[in-house]
Amino acid sequence: MDFYAEELISHYEHPHNKGVISNSDSKFHEYNPTCGDDITIYLKIKNDIIEDVKFDGNGCSISIASASMLTDFVKGKKLSEIEKMDFKTLKELINIDPGPARLKCATLSLKTLKGAVFLYEHKPMDQNTKNM
Ligand code: FES
Repeated sequence: MDFYAEELISHYEHPHNKGVISNSDSKFHEYNPTCGDDITIYLKIKNDIIEDVKFDGNGCSISIASASMLTDFVKGKKLSEIEKMDFKTLKELINIDPGPARLKCATLSLKTLKGAVFLYEHKPMDQNTKNM
């Protein structure tokens, strides 16, 4: 097995940042209608920077591993940076090509994270994020 696949499995088996932030500044829930998997993201935000992030929910190996890696990556990032993130950013982060069949699995956590950011900013979700 190559390094990236091993890392993905390790994140799935021992996900980072799994849990709930009870006094979060923003919380957003998304689900994948084709399989029913769901993720909720909780954010603590200070001065438009993500101070803390946790996720909760159920998903396949790719969706959970992506959520684990993504939540590690976005700590300390500005909200404006999150707004610009797209599938390309996520693909570089997880370092595998999930292929068309698992694309929604990989992007579930990013869509949820961006939903939490847009909600905090009182902005509507943009079309690219909606289509994830
Ligand atoms: Fe449900 Fe992957 S099979 S998110």
